[in-house]
Amino acid sequence: MQTLEIKKDIHWVGVLNATLRAFDVVFKTRYGSTYNSYLIQSDKPTIIDGVHAKFASEYLDKLRSLINLKDIHYIVVNHTEMDHSGSLGCLLKEASNAQVLSTKTAALFLKNILHIDFKGKVVEDGECISLGNKQLKFIHAPYWHWPDTMFTYLEEDQTLFPCDGFATHFCDERMFDDRVDDFSEDFRHYFEHIMGPYRKKMLEAIEKIKNLNIQLIAPSHGPILRTDPWKYINAYKDWSTPRKDPNKRLALVFYVSMYGNTKKMAEAVARGASTMNTEVKLFDAANVSPEFMRCEIESADGILFGSPTMNGDAVRPIWDIIDIMFSVNIKGKKCATFGTYGWSGEATRLMEDRLRGLKLNIVQPPLKVLFTPTEEDLKKCSIFGYDFAKSLVSSS
Ligand code: FEO
Repeated sequence: MQTLEIKKDIHWVGVLNATLRAFDVVFKTRYGSTYNSYLIQSDKPTIIDGVHAKFASEYLDKLRSLINLKDIHYIVVNHTEMDHSGSLGCLLKEASNAQVLSTKTAALFLKNILHIDFKGKVVEDGECISLGNKQLKFIHAPYWHWPDTMFTYLEEDQTLFPCDGFATHFCDERMFDDRVDDFSEDFRHYFEHIMGPYRKKMLEAIEKIKNLNIQLIAPSHGPILRTDPWKYINAYKDWSTPRKDPNKRLALVFYVSMYGNTKKMAEAVARGASTMNTEVKLFDAANVSPEFMRCEIESADGILFGSPTMNGDAVRPIWDIIDIMFSVNIKGKKCATFGTYGWSGEATRLMEDRLRGLKLNIVQPPLKVLFTPTEEDLKKCSIFGYDFAKSLVSSS
């Protein structure tokens, strides 16, 4: 695939990487990804975003097919992570008249990424720069998902370039959201994995763009969004909005159960924790997608974890929930553990060890029940839940 005109005088000049199966080593990409870069052929020709270093040669060839690189006036660096800035050094060697536009943080990062002298200009939040017949507006969006990030808005074309925002690791050379296969699952996966830890920052930046007339979103990975751009922005807003009644504390109860005994405990714990002041959400860890739980976890004041002991350990699905918590803002949240056991009963202690390591605050000793809970045990579970809820309210 060569280049693609996405609007009059705006060309996609990115590259496809259809065979990529792990982005940044850990991010699974079912259908590869794309590195999107755009050329605005205005009076002052401008490039927005870049590509990974290993595609630099292909990228420059694409640009050369459309423009003499010496004519490039601006290169907008919305974000400096190397999947975008990796090609910048090569580009600047030829585009020697270009000035790099970025946030102050990005300018500092570039200095230590490129190790070359280049013409740079720091743009402020809300600043506009004329391209002659068109105008760019810059909107700072720190922590989308790095501190350096900004969006660029091309006013005449109602086009937003949000770099990693509203992006998807999804490679389909048809490129437009109305032409490619269904990528909704990959879009959500990208949000949860990349942006999920910064939900508050998502909402702050969305507030800044809410009055823009956006007809097209041109992100740095995956499909270009033109059918209903606000659908994607509103999805980010929804996924970033805290899931709680503002008048109540929120407690989550995650459990995993092999024979229904820890489940009985979890239900009794949840009943006990449900009070006038505390809302409780109960989740079977084996039936939820851990990455979709980030917003719930971030919204919660306290979290209870229940697992039986199997082979001297807690059972996998509860570890999957605990594992995603390293990428959620959980500082200071209260927690406690419970579970059934047959002979050794290590699960609660092992969960506690990990939760302590994640800097959660364990507010009460674990509750363990031997084999199957009796009525008396379930009363203890209910009291355990009630005490936990009380600890949440007492923190206010
Ligand atoms: Fe696509 Fe944060 O880089």
